[in-house]
Amino acid sequence: MKDDLKLVKDTETNLPGCINRRQFLFYSAGAVSTLALSSVFGASSALAAEALFAEYPSKKLASLSDLNQDQPIDFLYPNDDPTYAQCVLVKLGEKAGGGVGPDQDIVAFSSLCTHMGGLLGRSYKEEHKVLGPCPSHLTTFDLTRHGMVVAGHAVESLPQIVLEMKGNDIYATGVAGLIFGGAKNPGM
Ligand code: FES
Repeated sequence: MKDDLKLVKDTETNLPGCINRRQFLFYSAGAVSTLALSSVFGASSALAAEALFAEYPSKKLASLSDLNQDQPIDFLYPNDDPTYAQCVLVKLGEKAGGGVGPDQDIVAFSSLCTHMGGLLGRSYKEEHKVLGPCPSHLTTFDLTRHGMVVAGHAVESLPQIVLEMKGNDIYATGVAGLIFGGAKNPGM
């Protein structure tokens, strides 16, 4: 499993030198998915396995009382650029990888498809808990499994916004994965 999971960090940032327990749990779940993919797709899964993690200033997204199951909320993160930072927050109604809240079912993802940046924000399908199909080339991403590709042209999972709870409030604190549109996420 160790070879299937790499955390890529830039030494010029102030990111911590090792992952904390939360990050470990987060990526451990992702590695399980990666191992499953390895058995199906072989070497191509190595690309999907390379996880890029960046911490950013925390931003309050919503309170628990603001969320209704299967009704996504749009937001911008990790900056305010509407062409780059569009994200979606959703309460899935079932436990998800990286999920927070009492039922561990609240997740958030970049809305930009990892294939060529198609906008996925309005494509949530509650019956399957996915974003997609992408309007450009039909890739679909599983929100219960860290944004894993389940169909289509993209080969990388949808970048997941790392969430934390503070009381009843939901905060974004980082991004796991490379947001479409750059060689690195901002600040890395
Ligand atoms: S841009 Fe989404 S599948 Fe091509």
